Amino acid sequence: MKKTGLILSLLIAAQATEVQAQLNAANEAKVAQLLNSMTLEEKVGQMAQVSIESMGAVQGKTFAFDKAKLQDVVVNYKVGSILNTPGPWLGTKEWNALLTEIHQHALKTRLKIPVIYGLDNIHGVNYVNGSTLFPQQIGQAATWNRQLVFNGAAISAYESRAAGVPWTFSPVLDLGTNPVWPRIWEGYGEDPFLISELGVQFVKGSQESLGGKEKVAVSLKHFLGYSDPKSGKDRTDAWIPEHYLREYHLPPFRAALQAGARNVMVNSALINGVPTHINKRILTDLLKEELDFTGFVVTDWQDIENVQRRDRIVKTNKEAIMLAINAGIDMAMIPYDYKGFCTDLAALVKEGKVSEARINDAVTRILRVKGELNLFDRPLTFAKDYPRYGSAEFERAAYNTAAESITLLKNGNNILPLAKGAKLLVTGPNANTMRPLNGGWSYTWQGEQTDALAERYNTFAEALRKKFGAAQVQFEQGVAYKMDGKYYEDSIVNLDAVVQAAAGVDAVVLCIGENSYTETPGNLNDLTLSENQLLLAEALIKTGKPIIIVLTEGRPRIINRIEPGAAAVVHTYLPGNFGGDALADVLAGDVNPSGKLPITYPRFTNALTNYIHKISDSGQNPQGGDFNPQYPFGFGLSYTTFQYSNLGIAQTALTEAETLTVSVTVRNTGGRAGMEVVQLYVSDLYASLAPDEKRLRGFEKILLQPGEAKTIQFKVPVKDLAFVNADNKQQLEAGEFKVQVGELTQEFEVKKDLIF
Ligand code: BGC
Repeated sequence: MKKTGLILSLLIAAQATEVQAQLNAANEAKVAQLLNSMTLEEKVGQMAQVSIESMGAVQGKTFAFDKAKLQDVVVNYKVGSILNTPGPWLGTKEWNALLTEIHQHALKTRLKIPVIYGLDNIHGVNYVNGSTLFPQQIGQAATWNRQLVFNGAAISAYESRAAGVPWTFSPVLDLGTNPVWPRIWEGYGEDPFLISELGVQFVKGSQESLGGKEKVAVSLKHFLGYSDPKSGKDRTDAWIPEHYLREYHLPPFRAALQAGARNVMVNSALINGVPTHINKRILTDLLKEELDFTGFVVTDWQDIENVQRRDRIVKTNKEAIMLAINAGIDMAMIPYDYKGFCTDLAALVKEGKVSEARINDAVTRILRVKGELNLFDRPLTFAKDYPRYGSAEFERAAYNTAAESITLLKNGNNILPLAKGAKLLVTGPNANTMRPLNGGWSYTWQGEQTDALAERYNTFAEALRKKFGAAQVQFEQGVAYKMDGKYYEDSIVNLDAVVQAAAGVDAVVLCIGENSYTETPGNLNDLTLSENQLLLAEALIKTGKPIIIVLTEGRPRIINRIEPGAAAVVHTYLPGNFGGDALADVLAGDVNPSGKLPITYPRFTNALTNYIHKISDSGQNPQGGDFNPQYPFGFGLSYTTFQYSNLGIAQTALTEAETLTVSVTVRNTGGRAGMEVVQLYVSDLYASLAPDEKRLRGFEKILLQPGEAKTIQFKVPVKDLAFVNADNKQQLEAGEFKVQVGELTQEFEVKKDLIF
């Protein structure tokens, strides 16, 4: 026993030294020295984060600080961080001025510690005028293209620093497992491997050479298990056993932490009745100790308060603060009650209810990241040093991402691409508005001002007119979102006119889906597409004209009533400001679609099973069962065809220390160049915990000219095929496995058991 204990502690010590070694020694020394000189009030202030809109007033198109309030926050209470948009649509120079003013106040404090500003740069620097808006994360995931995600992150980091902001509340690494949840589109889909691969690229693109003036610190959101509420409603209880949490929800965070992510934001909801903000096992034992996280943990919006006012764990906010800080929270996004937080936390320390050591740990982490960002030496960055901000080059990158995200889900009789001279009717609530293309977190939190602020970009109708000729493309509204109603309310607009217009065209481009929303306002009781949009589609299908459904939506709305009547279905997700141009290029055949679904598209509202499921949820269930989504995960058509052959496994009996090597040849058998996402799935055929039917273990996106063939090789460490057992350990079991690429399959064997 004793000996094991000794070996274990030696191992932990060795690991700890390794982690320490990765930290910058000079920065560590500086932070330690600074911490030594700090009073309790100064320390507590560093742990507070206030929202900017509470610190001033909107004046016309601009925002002005209330000087007394700014003084109170930064100088009197020594608050260490500020977040959010002040409201108006400000340009980089105005942002520079706000951050300068904040810093001038920081300089009035005894220790002159810079304030760290954080912004929700969700799909670009969406709160700053003139920035480059990319497709939302779900669309980026549909590209299955690591490089595009890296580029997007690097561009957004650059543009964020042009505004002066060194910290982004992105990426969302939540598992998109419940399609009802209103934040599905903020993530990279439903598969842990896909999310991990893209999340790592986002971290690298944002943070590589952290400290450089073009880089920002990321915030991994929302640790952990946020995305699977039992009700599907935002910020409600999830029931997730720990081994499922570790098997499915944890891997993307683990991978992004290994890639060096410096901040983590906490799950705003509860798991198994425990608000994550007071869950020490998750925040300290798992994140900081087991995963060796040396950055800092920030709460989500008002979530310490929520422990008291929403979850009723304790009667007072002060007790909630105690529980949260002791659980491992380092910084509290208050966002308004900084006085209460600072006063209560200082009192808790004096009362011995929160240890000074815990405070020192929290402040060390915050100062460490400030130092790593070089904020002590370069507290401010200015627009003049960022000439590529909003440039054509960056816009091109956003366009490319949109173009590669578009996913062709149905193409009956190869109706697409359309002939260049085709006469078209463009209709539907999403046809001539920029708001649904961008979704939430665009210009404003809910994206309701997008049409006014993104006027210079092309809607679907405008882009199609440019592509096919104004005389060839007619627009009819069909259904409109109610501008003064809730985001999901819509109404029919002159259906007769739409049907009449359809009579004179070759094809109808029907643009349907959702209006913008995010978080709790996006909650939903029925995943079915709105009744008015279904009625519009049905009226058009009756005309007998080919209907091309264009979906633009944050989550997969059920379309089984109209899908069979559609000639083609094209999914655009939330493609951003270049979504119109990208769609027009796809419909015209100038871009060959190559997006693949990063989520399962369900067929029925009561059948929301993901592609990751047990055999009992599949058609293989001997007692009867089915898995029959509208479109499966990983699916997407092309204007060309691909043939898979020669699936080979280098070595078909492997030990746990070896690597599975799979090769396959893919040939473009059609008439035009195209990109294909080659996907490797592995199934564990028998396991002591019911195995998943199959799991994605590798993917590569390749470009093939007509007739061209490429052989792809995947390498998967055998250890990665382990599952998390009911004791929360990784377990690899000897026995047969199956690989699948396209329709090809082959088996191999793992020779020995391993638990680690
Ligand atoms: C969201 C976070 C976001 C934060 C700051 C919260 O309501 O859940 O994702 O980063 O606000 O704006």
